[in-house]
Amino acid sequence: MKIAILPGDGIGTEIVAEAVKVLQALDLAFETETALVGGAAFDAFGHPLPEATLQLAKDADAILFGAVGDWKYDTLERPLRPEQAILGLRKSLGLFANFRPAICYPQLVDASSLKRELVSGLDILIIRELTGDIYFGQPRGRRIATDGHFPGTEEAFDTMRYSRPEIERIAHVAFQAARKRDKRVTSVDKANVLETFQLWKDVLTDVGLQYPDVALDHMYVDNAAMQLVKAPKKFDVVVTGNMFGDILSDAAAMLTGSIGMLPSASLNDKGQGLYEPSHGSAPDIAGKGVANPLATILSAAMMLRFSLNQPAAAARIEQAVDRVLTQGLRTPDIHSHGTTRVGTVAMGDAVVKALG
Ligand code: IPM
Ligand code: MG
Repeated sequence: MKIAILPGDGIGTEIVAEAVKVLQALDLAFETETALVGGAAFDAFGHPLPEATLQLAKDADAILFGAVGDWKYDTLERPLRPEQAILGLRKSLGLFANFRPAICYPQLVDASSLKRELVSGLDILIIRELTGDIYFGQPRGRRIATDGHFPGTEEAFDTMRYSRPEIERIAHVAFQAARKRDKRVTSVDKANVLETFQLWKDVLTDVGLQYPDVALDHMYVDNAAMQLVKAPKKFDVVVTGNMFGDILSDAAAMLTGSIGMLPSASLNDKGQGLYEPSHGSAPDIAGKGVANPLATILSAAMMLRFSLNQPAAAARIEQAVDRVLTQGLRTPDIHSHGTTRVGTVAMGDAVVKALG
């Protein structure tokens, strides 16, 4: 088993170090190789996703990714920005299925910005399509407008598009995931306005016929955003496109207390996967040793389960995280009255110690 380790920028290096420490403590037989990605790779090689990093990722059984991005790269032309590294990895490896589970640990109910009764016991799974939609649609660019309200002025445009097979394959992923859970799928669209999402809705309905044991309902994205903060426990599996999934998964993260708790898996049709926290590089707290490593540590657990066929080791990590939370250890993002404030490294050490 070979794991590519891509820490990236900002807090990426700090949190990935803790996840690697936890993986190493499990005493499994795997090889790791580390490479630069994002702004760090741009600084060293002039490109956020150098060929060698991409090749390493392609050759690995799984990729553990930290985060990319920093304000200092905001003025670079778009193809050289750190974000292009993660977008390029997703596209090049065909990682179309993004799993973002939002689970509210009982120990953290009071860290959520919502009332305890709304989030207590929360366990939803957002499945985001990750290689299509307006993120990758062509054409895109800038031009001088020839029509519209302000002809003769600069305008920018992106293209939202999905093909039927792209929607079908993510629909199957969602229905199959629902079968292992509460057997309910909510498909989120904007079919009332966008043709792309009318197709999305039609395909979800068609594929749903093959899963009579799973209940399917459709929800407009604006309503879904509202329901997520009004009655989040009503959802089981939420499946949606790349853009809506980006937004809704950040919202769902906060239900659990902190985005610092949310792992993710991005899979292709070969079971190869990239595992990363749902949060970003947080340059404001980078280098301070205060970032929450748990989302990355939990992403490593997803990696063991989904790509490396080590479900028992995954469960050991998840139980260890549960234990450190029960011990009252909290990084600042999840700290509340009466708990013990710890930094990134101490949190990683505590998880290692708590491995059963
Ligand atoms: C995410 C991030 C990325 C995205 C950025 C960094 C390109 O926000 O993984 O949710 O928009 O997909
Ligand atoms: Mg995002």
